Amino acid sequence: MSAKYDASNAARGTMPGFVDFHSHLMPGVDDGARDTVQALESLRAFAAQGAATCLTTPHFDASLTKSPPAFTARMGQFEIAWAALTAARDTYRVSAGHAPLPTLARGVEVMLDDPDPDLSDPRLRLAGGPFVLVEFPAMQMPPNAQWTISRLRQNGWWPIIGHPERYRNHDSQLTVLARCRGAGALLQVNAGSLLGHHGARARTVAHALLSLGWVDYLASDHHARGEPATGRAVALLQLRGAPAQRLTVENPQRILAGEGPLPVPPLVAKEARSWWARLLRLPPR
Ligand SMILES: [Fe+2]
Repeated sequence: MSAKYDASNAARGTMPGFVDFHSHLMPGVDDGARDTVQALESLRAFAAQGAATCLTTPHFDASLTKSPPAFTARMGQFEIAWAALTAARDTYRVSAGHAPLPTLARGVEVMLDDPDPDLSDPRLRLAGGPFVLVEFPAMQMPPNAQWTISRLRQNGWWPIIGHPERYRNHDSQLTVLARCRGAGALLQVNAGSLLGHHGARARTVAHALLSLGWVDYLASDHHARGEPATGRAVALLQLRGAPAQRLTVENPQRILAGEGPLPVPPLVAKEARSWWARLLRLPPR
């Protein structure tokens, strides 16, 4: 696999039975689907790529958990949007020859603008289980992000850091991310990042994380525009000999079962490992 791989030429891959747990399909509540038409288009596209289940995860500010009126208002928006989304899905008639729409479930993407949120409401967690999808503000990893991760773990939750490759302040050793993993964080890379949709730096870091064996999950972070990136990312992973099935099917299914991820071995594509490692000046394993 060449480092000059051109994502625009990527094959359209499929992965039967995959579980996508990061998307923005609730209509009208964030920068994702504007309406149920867009949401249904997305679900059809997910179905064509093989998705069995989609957990949709609208943006949610952690600080709202400290303000009951604001919390109630935000959750009220989600309830209305969720009802509209599930009704649209359940009344949609699948055309002959097309895959059935994925099963829907919900969570939120928690923006950690407060380092100690109250996540006791099951609607804030993925399918109501112990896993919670989190991100940090302003695409910056706080220097002591691991403290927040530790606190979440102490409270009984399993934080999954969404798109860690997109943070702009990683040092060459990925120090803060390493500390977060040490504190119990799990990592979810965006499918689009592997294809360069979030820029060259995010792609470099995403592939480096695969080379290190730090990636627990792959998800789409689909915002209901165009096709989910999952199919093409799966094709790329398979080309590189990466465990696409574990990243998109097995480990995400385990979220639904309340179980932690199975290990994802470091990608041993020799040239890729050395290329990414040199670029990021990663330590030898
Ligand atoms: Fe997202």
